[in-house]
Amino acid sequence: MKVLMLNGSPDSDGCTMAALEIVAGTLKDEGIDSEIIQTGKSPVRDCIACNACAKLDNQCAFGDDCVNEFLRKAKDADGFVFGTPVYYAHPSGRVLSLLDRIFCAGSSVLSYKPGFAVACARRAGTIASLDVMNKYFTINQMPLVGSTYWTEVHGAQKADVAKDREGVETMIYAAKNLVWLIKCIESGKKSGITIPCFKKVERTNFIR
Ligand SMILES: Cc1cc2nc3c(=O)[nH]c(=O)nc-3n(C[C@H](O)[C@H](O)[C@H](O)COP(=O)(O)O)c2cc1C
Repeated sequence: MKVLMLNGSPDSDGCTMAALEIVAGTLKDEGIDSEIIQTGKSPVRDCIACNACAKLDNQCAFGDDCVNEFLRKAKDADGFVFGTPVYYAHPSGRVLSLLDRIFCAGSSVLSYKPGFAVACARRAGTIASLDVMNKYFTINQMPLVGSTYWTEVHGAQKADVAKDREGVETMIYAAKNLVWLIKCIESGKKSGITIPCFKKVERTNFIR
């Protein structure tokens, strides 16, 4: 079993990474593998609504960043964690561009798999950021995992995160809850519980 994570900070060793490392450590203690994909410092494209991905196998037409790598690895993942720093009280533009393209090109490889988002701020804007991040899960039939507080940590430097004791605990309990849910889903599959199969969803665009 494996959890795939995305560090939405350009800093591969900053506060968001500190939070994801706490999650990874807890997953390891619980016997679950994980991998953190870095979004890096290079420019990332946003979704241009070209719809080219509709003809591809869960891949984006743009292959010059981590989107297609993430989608390839997502096929074999059992859960997801998306981390973001807070920029002006919202998630990083980088993580939103990448998640828009990941979900537009390959939502089916993520659906019915649980996860949670992590927002990391020096001081404020985590709740608004989590509201945005959590919507990727809930529009895609992905169980959203809770913790003992909203899944945020605070800090300006990586070392600050360890001092946010409640934030650290929130990450640990979110990771434990994720493991619990992954195991429940696996156990359900083994005992014959199947994924609900809906007819094609009607899109009414509020005009009919
Ligand atoms: C452009 C920019 C905007 C930011 N806006 C906020 C903000 O609205 N609220 C806040 O508390 N921190 C803000 N910060 C600080 C970061 O959220 C904080 O330092 C965070 O820990 C960075 O995570 P990282 O080390 O993983 O990149 C901002 C930082 C940058 C670069």
